[in-house]
Amino acid sequence: MRHLLDTKTLGLDEALQILDVAEDMRDTQSREVRKLPTLRGKTVVNLFFEDSTRTRISFEAAAKRLSADVINFSAKGSSVSKGESLQDTAQTLQAMGADAVVIRHGASGAPQTLATSGWITAGVVNAGDGTHEHPTQALLDAFTIRKRFFGAESRGRDLAGLRVTIVGDVLHSRVARSNVWLLTTLGAHVTIVAPPTLIPQDVSAWPVEVAYDLDEAIAAAPDAIMMLRIQLERMNAAYFPTEREYSRRWGLDAARLHALPEGSIVMHPGPMNRGLEISADAADSPQSTVLEQVANGVSVRMAALYLLLSGERDAAAAREPEPA
Ligand code: CP
Repeated sequence: MRHLLDTKTLGLDEALQILDVAEDMRDTQSREVRKLPTLRGKTVVNLFFEDSTRTRISFEAAAKRLSADVINFSAKGSSVSKGESLQDTAQTLQAMGADAVVIRHGASGAPQTLATSGWITAGVVNAGDGTHEHPTQALLDAFTIRKRFFGAESRGRDLAGLRVTIVGDVLHSRVARSNVWLLTTLGAHVTIVAPPTLIPQDVSAWPVEVAYDLDEAIAAAPDAIMMLRIQLERMNAAYFPTEREYSRRWGLDAARLHALPEGSIVMHPGPMNRGLEISADAADSPQSTVLEQVANGVSVRMAALYLLLSGERDAAAAREPEPA
């Protein structure tokens, strides 16, 4: 794998390979994330032009667990404020020895530009670009679903037969887009539920069912319900119902939580607007996988960095623990 830019073009075999290598990144007995020498001598640059808690820290933890060196770059406080371009910023970091660049950017397509422009030779991982894609979030979500439903039998499994309902601000969500492409590639049936004003115009080209009524969608008994963050910073009154109306009609509250089938899971990529798209009862319930998703993000990102930086080497090599 040369770059990881999206899930739309990720094939089934590639997706399963990442999920299976992520399995290898945890100890089979303790399930703790391993510390491996695999990427010793490699340098991973986290190039973040937008705020992040989970993704940036998770990539840093993943790179360190693989013994790579990590350089964290945040646009805030950098020479970007003096007008330095993406090209010059990336080339400066490459000159410091970057082997992989993990980029989050407000512009859809920025990671693609970095990967294809010829400005740098490092592998590029998309850590979220505009409203386009967030592929490692979708991969960790798929990993979490697979783990919850298939447990120790997860390896090699797709998600055929599972029903996933994605609820909320689909219009602005790169998480929703990456999940739609990946989950359907893996064979899941995906329904999106949102106010009509928060459904993208091109949705007819998506391989999903579209619904507007959350109670009806819950009555259809999904295996997983994924609540999206309402991106208030990108919202205007033209397409957002009032917060009160949104919460009443599309929020996952205690009553809707109880209406979900037993054994179903409640997902959220974070950060959450508690009391808006998800209540505390739902976010903190035993059905919630919110913190599992975060924990799984480290092993999935280890898998992505490993596959990017180790070329075609046998994934079994990743299983070798560091010599004592
Ligand atoms: N889910 C996610 O991308 O969270 P951060 O914005 O905190 O990285």
